[in-house]
Amino acid sequence: MAVFHGHDMRGYLERVSRHPMVQGIRHEGLIRLDVQPGERVLDAGSGPGDMAARFANLGARVTAIDADPVMSGAAAEIPGVTAETADLATLDRPGHYDVVWAERLLQHVPDADRVVGNLVRALAPGGRICLIDVDWTGLVVDGIEEDLAAQVLGVFRTVVPHPSMGRTLRRRLVRQGITKTEVRAFLGVSTDLADAMSVIPVFDERLIPAPPSWFAAVRDADEAGEFLTALPIYLVTGSA
Ligand SMILES: C[S@@+](CC[C@H](N)C(=O)[O-])C[C@H]1O[C@@H](n2cnc3c(N)ncnc32)[C@H](O)[C@@H]1O
Repeated sequence: MAVFHGHDMRGYLERVSRHPMVQGIRHEGLIRLDVQPGERVLDAGSGPGDMAARFANLGARVTAIDADPVMSGAAAEIPGVTAETADLATLDRPGHYDVVWAERLLQHVPDADRVVGNLVRALAPGGRICLIDVDWTGLVVDGIEEDLAAQVLGVFRTVVPHPSMGRTLRRRLVRQGITKTEVRAFLGVSTDLADAMSVIPVFDERLIPAPPSWFAAVRDADEAGEFLTALPIYLVTGSA
């Protein structure tokens, strides 16, 4: 199942960034990090750089790194942000940053522990790190025939290398020597298909080549007022 096949990834990420639940989770992360003017911040897997822009607005010195040149190109246009195109699996900058932010990056990375190790090593003494990721294995729907839902969600969960990344974030930090951690989990619930589609690709037929019966069932549930979906998202902060 090809996700985002032929789709405008930048547009999707910008839509996700505007979603109130995502805004709420980011707000929580920002409170915990308490970034100060002049601090060196790395936005790892920055996408088009929404968070990089937030850090720059706080007066931080921001580096945005993304493997996709379209994304780093967009981030490079943000005032106060230095953008780089690079694979974080090769990041080698010991002690360079006061703050590292990695949001919805690690589910996509083949060797996630290696990237987490590189990010932790990039922290200066006393530096803070914030990891945010989804747990796709916890994605549920109601209002749709259970076998069909199980079949489609089962396949959808295999499209990223680490569907359960969210719940593993803390353990991955601990293994890299970050023992002072705080964990928060959010359950994003939506009873509105248009709202759910804006952030969860499996409901959007422009993004996912699932059987037509799936999208018909989802629409029927929405029209009957019975549609419900829920998705867990984890936020873990730690300090070196
Ligand atoms: C789901 S997007 C999230 C973007 C951004 N953090 C946000 O919250 O909007 C994941 C991003 O990670 C980038 N990425 C994936 N693997 C990477 C790697 N090994 N090194 C650097 N960037 C990577 C992708 O290109 C993509 O832009």
